[in-house]
Amino acid sequence: MAPIALVLSGASLALAGSPSWQPLPTDIDTVAVGSCAHSAAPTQPVWAAVREAEPDVLLLLGDNVYADTEDPERLAKALRRLGRRPRFRRLTREVPVLATWDDHDFGPNDSDGRHARKDEVRQVTLDFFGAAADDPRRTRPDGLYGAWTLGSKGRRVQVVLLDTRYDLSPRAPRTDGGVGRYAPGPGQVLGDAQWAWLEEVLEEPAELRIIGSSIPFATEYTGWETWSNFPDEQLRMLEMLRDVGPVLVVSGDVHYGELSALAGVTDLTSSGLRTRPYPRLPNRHRIDDLVYDDEHFALVSIDWGASEVQLSWHTPRGEVAMTTTMRFTDLTPPVARTETEPPPAPPPAD
Ligand SMILES: [Fe+2]
Repeated sequence: MAPIALVLSGASLALAGSPSWQPLPTDIDTVAVGSCAHSAAPTQPVWAAVREAEPDVLLLLGDNVYADTEDPERLAKALRRLGRRPRFRRLTREVPVLATWDDHDFGPNDSDGRHARKDEVRQVTLDFFGAAADDPRRTRPDGLYGAWTLGSKGRRVQVVLLDTRYDLSPRAPRTDGGVGRYAPGPGQVLGDAQWAWLEEVLEEPAELRIIGSSIPFATEYTGWETWSNFPDEQLRMLEMLRDVGPVLVVSGDVHYGELSALAGVTDLTSSGLRTRPYPRLPNRHRIDDLVYDDEHFALVSIDWGASEVQLSWHTPRGEVAMTTTMRFTDLTPPVARTETEPPPAPPPAD
């Protein structure tokens, strides 16, 4: 297929290393999800396995490169290196890609909204991923979030990719001696404009919604980066997803794959395109002990006739590491407020 014309007419030097991005699909039943592709790795075999799975679209949830910098030029260099990887290039000749970022491709490790050059790195990122010059993600007040409805009536998937870094508040430090670095506290994951935008786009009709968050949403408080560090924000999202029909959150960052649920909202974590595994964290919200702590990507395979999805995590060799099936009704959060779980409790103060 022909490259997107606007990619060729763009003005940024970062485009020189960009692959030829494909147009988004008009019919959709398979969505690939991945995050965390370590830039220092000499090879990234997983891209071949993603291509061979023939998804209709690939969602990259962040840490797509590890640039670990506020310097836009250094980020552009890391992205260009990704763009030159042969397996990635071949993948992008066949599979459309939608991307957001996490800390390592936004700024330094665990970076937040205090990043001094965040608008510049946003433009570099959008240049690399082939966004048009007038793409609204370039000029929104608080980040590169976006939404796309793919497929036709009766088979519509709304893909929402959040920006959980641009306006992220500094996290409260963990002081109780427990695992991790952070404690729950006040603050925001999304800026006010992003919240207002999200409420609006969730009004648009779709048979299934997939919401990408760079950090886990439905997991237990871990001491590391999750929405659980901001219980008010987590609760706000739970409330917002009450009345939107079948919805699946997909998330990354933690270097393993798992499936969690909180108050009826299901969260598929796919984090390990090319990583060293992190120690598995406790998570009482995990479903059926589904956790896989080696390199992988995930697939959401939609059976429109049966109104169900198969969720699967795959090794870089294309083998199925784990899988489960959920009905659309399983993915539909309860409407009644009384069924809401309380937000996660803070860690003990001792
Ligand atoms: Fe991360």
